[in-house]
Amino acid sequence: MPERPSRVVLVGFMGSGKSAVGRIVARRLGYRFEDMDLRIERRAGRTIAVIFEEEGEEAFRRLERDEALALSRLAERVVASGGGAFAQPETRKILQRGAVTVWLRCGIDQVFDRIPADGSRPLAGNRDIMRALLAQREPSYRMADVAVDASAGSPREVAERIVGLIEGRTRKRTSARR
Ligand code: S3P
Repeated sequence: MPERPSRVVLVGFMGSGKSAVGRIVARRLGYRFEDMDLRIERRAGRTIAVIFEEEGEEAFRRLERDEALALSRLAERVVASGGGAFAQPETRKILQRGAVTVWLRCGIDQVFDRIPADGSRPLAGNRDIMRALLAQREPSYRMADVAVDASAGSPREVAERIVGLIEGRTRKRTSARR
C-alpha cells in the first residue's frame, strides 16, 4: 500500500483559496477537512475579529498554535491554516509534523479581488499594508514542501494539481523503497 501523509496542510496568504481548495482535496483523498480559523472561533466562542479586538494579535497567535497542536494529533486530515500561521516559527514546526505542506502561491491582485471588505480579517488593511505583509511572509511560505500556482484556475483545478503532487510523492517514496 502506498504511504500517504497523515495530513495535508495548505498554507498561504489570505484569499489564496485554502478553504475552498482544501475541501475539494479532502474529498478527493477521502480525508476530513479542517479549517483552523473556524476551529479557533468555535473553541473561543468568538469570531477572529473579536479575538483580535479584545485580546490582540499575540493572544490570537497563541490560540492558533494550540489549535495546530490539536490538529497534529489527528490523522487523515486536510487542514486549511490561517494566513499567518506558517509565518510563526513554533506553529510552523507543529504544522509540518507528519504532514505534506502545500503553499498556495497567489498574486497580490487576486488577493485584493478575493478578500471581502467586511472586517472579518483584522490584518487585511489597505493595499500597501497587504503588499508589505505578503512580502514579509513569502520566505516562510517558501518553506512548504511544495508550491502550487493558485492565481489561475478554479479551486477544483488547483485541488487536482495538489492531489497529483501528493500521489506523485507517494508513488515516488513507495518505488524508492523497492
Ligand atoms: C490572518 C489570516 C486569517 C486569520 C486571521 C489572521 C493572517 O486567515 O487567521 O485573520 O495573519 O494573515 P485566512 O488566511 O484564512 O484569511
